[in-house]
Amino acid sequence: MERSYIFLFLHLFLFILPTLSTKCMSSSLPADLPLTVTLNHTARMESIRNFMTFNGTQLLNQLLKVSPDEFHRNRTLSIPLYDVNLFVKSNYKDWRSLVKYTLAKDARRAAWMASQIAVNSFTGEIHQDVVQIPVYDVEGAYATILEVGTPPQKDVWILDTGSNLIWWVCRPCKKCPAESFDPSKSSTFKRVNCDDLKDCPRWAGFQCGSSFGKKCVFQTRYLDGTKSQGFMARDKVYTIGGTLMESLKFGCSGAQPTTFQGHRYTGILGFGRGDLSFVSQYHAKSFSFCLTESFLGSPVYFDKLIIPKPTTLKVPLLLYLEKTYSTQLVGIFVGTQYVKANPYPPEDSTIRAVVDSGTKVTWLPTDIYYKFRDFFRTSFGLPYHRDEDVDLDTCYDLGGRDVTTLSVPTITFSFHGGKGEPKQYLSLQAAHILYPIDHRTYCLGFLPQVGNRDFVLFGSFQLTGTRVTVDLQYHNMYFDVNSC
Ligand SMILES: *[C@@H]1O[C@H](CO)[C@@H](O)[C@H](O)[C@H]1NC(C)=O
Ligand SMILES: *[C@@H]1O[C@H](CO)[C@@H](O)[C@H](O)[C@H]1NC(C)=O
Ligand SMILES: *[C@@H]1O[C@H](CO)[C@@H](O)[C@H](O)[C@H]1NC(C)=O
Repeated sequence: MERSYIFLFLHLFLFILPTLSTKCMSSSLPADLPLTVTLNHTARMESIRNFMTFNGTQLLNQLLKVSPDEFHRNRTLSIPLYDVNLFVKSNYKDWRSLVKYTLAKDARRAAWMASQIAVNSFTGEIHQDVVQIPVYDVEGAYATILEVGTPPQKDVWILDTGSNLIWWVCRPCKKCPAESFDPSKSSTFKRVNCDDLKDCPRWAGFQCGSSFGKKCVFQTRYLDGTKSQGFMARDKVYTIGGTLMESLKFGCSGAQPTTFQGHRYTGILGFGRGDLSFVSQYHAKSFSFCLTESFLGSPVYFDKLIIPKPTTLKVPLLLYLEKTYSTQLVGIFVGTQYVKANPYPPEDSTIRAVVDSGTKVTWLPTDIYYKFRDFFRTSFGLPYHRDEDVDLDTCYDLGGRDVTTLSVPTITFSFHGGKGEPKQYLSLQAAHILYPIDHRTYCLGFLPQVGNRDFVLFGSFQLTGTRVTVDLQYHNMYFDVNSC
C-alpha cells in the first residue's frame, strides 16, 4: 500500500513534473534588468589604494580610547562594524598577499559552515562534547567594539552571524592582550547561577559541578586547534551611540585562541538566532546591517525596521537551523543565461542560501558553479586564466590595455519570494562580481564548494553595499542594494 504510493510519487516526480515544467519555463530575466554593468577600474584601484594606505592601527587605538562620556546612551541600539582587514593589512606586503590570505581563510570558513549546516539538517542539533567555536584567523570578517562592566571596559570582538555563543577572554588569562576584560574591576560582573537550569545551559559542552568551584563551565575547542575552558557570566554592556543591556550572558574564557594572538580581538559576538546569541538576548524584533569597506564602520541597528522601497527585495527567512540567516535561491542569471539552483524538478525548486558575515566570497555548489562560470566566461569574452595565488579560476589581466571602465555581464540572483509572492531579483554591481587581485588583475569572485553541497554561502564581497534587514518577528529578510 505504502509502496505503491511511493511509486506513484516517484513517477510523478521523475516523469510528469519535468514535462510540465519544460512547458511553462519561466526562467527569463525580467525586462527591466540590464544585461551588463560597468566596472570603473580607475575608481576601484583608487579605493584599494586608499584602503591600503589608511592607518588601521591608529583608528583602532582611537576607537578604544574614546571616553565613556562620548558613548551617548540613546534608544536606538546600534553597534559599529569594521572590516577586520583594516586592522591586519599592515602584516601583508601588498593587496595581492592580503587577498591571498583572505581567500585561504575563506576556504576554512566555508568548510566550517558546511559542517554546521550538514550536522543540523540531519539531527537538528549538534552532538559534541565541546562548544565548537568558529575561530580561524580573523581576516575576512567584521569586528565590533563594545563596552562591558561598571565602570565600562572597552574591547574588540568579531561579530559572527554563523554562531550563537558570546564569549571573550577574561583576565586572568593565558597569552591574552593586557587590555582583556578584567572581571575583578567590574562591580556589576556576576557568574551565572550554576544550579539554575535556565541560567546554566545543560546541553553538550556545558556543565555545573563542585569540581569547577560551582561555576557554570564550558569547554571549547577552537577551529585552530586551541582548547580552552571558560565559565558563563553576566555583566552590563554598552554600545556606541546606544543603550545598554543590563545583563548580557557571555562566556569568560581562560585562554586566547592561537590565531587571535598578536591581534586586539579577544572574543566573538555570536549573532545567530539561538538562545544565547546577542540577537536573542537583546530580544531584537529586527536588526539591520550593511557590510562596507568603510573606515568609519557601518552600524548594525536593532528594532529599526526599514520602510521597504519599490526596489527593496523581500524574501522569507527560513526558520530551521538557528545559526544561520537563510532564504531560498531559485536560480542565477549571467546576463540572460540561466542556471537553475536546484537541479531537480519542479522548475522553481530551490536551495538554501545562507547570508554569512564571516564569509568573503560566494560559495556555490560545484555543479552550479561550473555552469555559472562557463556562462560568465563566454558572456564576458575576454581571455581568462587561473590565478595560482588565490585559487580563483576565471581571472582577467588588463595589463597593456588602456582600460578605465569594463562592461561586465550582470549577475542576478532569483529568490523565492514567499508563498503566492513573485520571485525577487538581486542584481550585483560590477564591483561585487570581479574581485581585484592587483593593479591589473580581476577574478570572478565566486568559488565552488568542496564536496557535495546543496546550499549557497553568500559572502560579504557580494553583499558589500547591500543593506540586509532581518525581521525576526514576521520572519522575512530584506535586501536593499547599494544603500548603506
Ligand atoms: C570612474 O571613477 C572616477 C573616480 O575615481 C571618476 O572620476 C570617473 O568619472 C568615473 N568614470 C566613469 C565612467 O564613471
Ligand atoms: C599608524 O599609526 C600608529 C599609531 O598612531 C603608528 O605607530 C604607526 O607608525 C602608523 N603607521 C603608519 C604606516 O603610518
Ligand atoms: C543617537 O544615536 C544616533 C545613531 O547612532 C546618533 O546619530 C545620535 O547622535 C544619537 N543621539 C544622541 C542624543 O546621542
